[in-house]
Amino acid sequence: MSQIPRQDAGMMMGGLMARDDTMHDDSQYESKSQACEAADDIPKNPDTGHSIGAVIARRYSRRDMLKGSLGVTAATALFGADALIAGRARAEALTSAAFKEIAGGVDERHHVAEGYTADALLRWGDPLFPDMAPFDPRKLTAEEQARRFGYNNDYVAFFPIGNAGDRGLLCVNHEYVDPEAMFPGIKRVSRTNFSEITEAHVAVEMAAHGVTVAEIVREGERWRPVLESKSNRRITSSTPMTFDGPAAGHARLKTSADPSGLRVLGTLNNCAGGHTPWGTYLTAEENFHGYFWTDAPKDKPTDAGSEAKSYARNRIPSNWYSWGRYNPRFNIDKEQNEPNRFGWIVEIDPSDPTSTPVKHTALGRFSHEGAECLINKDGRVVLYSGDDARFEYVYRFVSRDRYREGDRAHNMRLFSEGTLSVARYNDDGTTDWLPLVFGEGPLTPENGFHSQADVVIDARIASDLLKATPMDRPEDVEPNRRTGKVYVMLTNNDRRKADQKNAANPRAENDFGHIIEMTPPDNDHAAARFAWDLLLACGDPTVAEVGARWNPATTADGWFSSPDNCAFDADGRLWVSTDQGSSWPKTGKADGLYAIDTEGAERGRSRLFFRGPIGAEICGPTFTPDGETLFLAVQHPGTDGARAWKPFGRPSTFDDPSTRWPDFDPNMPPRPTVLAIRRKGGGRIAS
Ligand code: FEO
Ligand code: CA
Ligand code: CA
Repeated sequence: MSQIPRQDAGMMMGGLMARDDTMHDDSQYESKSQACEAADDIPKNPDTGHSIGAVIARRYSRRDMLKGSLGVTAATALFGADALIAGRARAEALTSAAFKEIAGGVDERHHVAEGYTADALLRWGDPLFPDMAPFDPRKLTAEEQARRFGYNNDYVAFFPIGNAGDRGLLCVNHEYVDPEAMFPGIKRVSRTNFSEITEAHVAVEMAAHGVTVAEIVREGERWRPVLESKSNRRITSSTPMTFDGPAAGHARLKTSADPSGLRVLGTLNNCAGGHTPWGTYLTAEENFHGYFWTDAPKDKPTDAGSEAKSYARNRIPSNWYSWGRYNPRFNIDKEQNEPNRFGWIVEIDPSDPTSTPVKHTALGRFSHEGAECLINKDGRVVLYSGDDARFEYVYRFVSRDRYREGDRAHNMRLFSEGTLSVARYNDDGTTDWLPLVFGEGPLTPENGFHSQADVVIDARIASDLLKATPMDRPEDVEPNRRTGKVYVMLTNNDRRKADQKNAANPRAENDFGHIIEMTPPDNDHAAARFAWDLLLACGDPTVAEVGARWNPATTADGWFSSPDNCAFDADGRLWVSTDQGSSWPKTGKADGLYAIDTEGAERGRSRLFFRGPIGAEICGPTFTPDGETLFLAVQHPGTDGARAWKPFGRPSTFDDPSTRWPDFDPNMPPRPTVLAIRRKGGGRIAS
């Protein structure tokens, strides 16, 4: 996220801020998450210069956008009037969500629209098994944490059990940890000062990452975890997993602990993800580079040998966490191939708590944000994924084999073989999917690629060579399975220079992000060329210099910044949650969840349904199939940018009552929490 000096942040409320690009020292960040976001965003893509330069800032006029005509205009122009009939027929059924918009703003509480309840369902430290003591963070051990709900909940998926709509398995990602908010006495962690973090802390941190699988049941209007369930499971950064696909068993995946290159311990930085039509869970490994460590001084770095180019492109090592001090597999001075074993999409079968998760290397290795898929009309499975860093790319995977109804074992191999492609957004409103295939084009030994394993391990380098379009931080990329259109959340990118603008990234110093809508021709998600359009350009529409684009029906509460995760409700409406990080003072709004019209006269209208407490990003929106419950993840309350909110006092410390989210037990710090949101009296959330 954007880098804001603490001392200045409080002065930025309600206006545009001056940028300070000089800061790269983590000691200036008030929380781990802020430091991670900032460091993550330092652009390392060497290929950002090929953009078309200062041309075509806007293909369409603001007036066209306001008329809501863009989607049909571009797609029909490119593919003919019949191209969208199927999608359009279904889209016409989409109506605006029915709720009374809440007011934007910032405070320590969460707010949901009138007539709804938002109950805490699972919070960091909650027991997942019977006969466990209530959570006491002062007594937390790694063994305890591995049986309790993890930290920093992000993506959420719900797998129903039975048809009554009152029971299911909830899968939740635990992306990273904020040590200063978890451990008593830990005031600050920085890249250059890990003195307070012990080996025991590291073990807890590793156990707090990963995934939770928890059976939940609804009794009346309230959901609760079923501690007695045999399905409950924690997957952590130590859980045994396997690889499949082109890199499985490759020399670059072999380590001293795993000479086969087929087995790996754990998953980490599990950000967004996906769920499959066959009932499995996909967790996306995002900022994996941050966990790899070196003891070598900067002026005498360890010789990375043949991995040097790959390390540089992937920002390895980054020394964000102390894991490598105590665990040699995270120390690149000792184990050079371990970083190649992270940055993948992992498939988990939540219905079998003894199942071994699989890292699907065919889906490529990068900072995966999400992994949502659908069954294409030809039966192949198509998965979309964003690489969340500034100037990184949007990817698509098309399976070689076809989905077979009822054949779960077969379907769980669909991500093992297929074609990974990367997106080039052309200024004429088309998207070309460029296949990342060894031996084709520049992906040859002359450029360092000796097999498809090299291509997927170094998907970023391969995409650079194919001249894919560097984007403004692609986070969720999700198909609307009802309309067939695909939505790309582009969080922001304040490093984009004026001569790096292009039609799909039309603003320099893009502080607020935008959303792109892609339309496959004739609903064929495997097609080589899609149409694309800008659905929204985020930011304050009343400030001309911002260049925001919204439907004019959007209110002062309804516009937002930094789209991160998205979801579609049971009726196919788009919902977007935001992550401004510490830069919320640029908007004067806490992060929230917004309902957005994508069709009809109100296309591009956004309305605020929920907002979180100061310091939290909002993640993981997901709806139950009956549309009556919305699960929402409130991640890292009290950390990001909390110091800029004067009444908050110290953010996320253990011993300052003023920092507590008021709903919490008085002995608790603010805890990452998954909420279950319902309409009072029942009924679909927004109908
Ligand atoms: Fe983990 Fe890109 O957010
Ligand atoms: Ca995210
Ligand atoms: Ca984010």
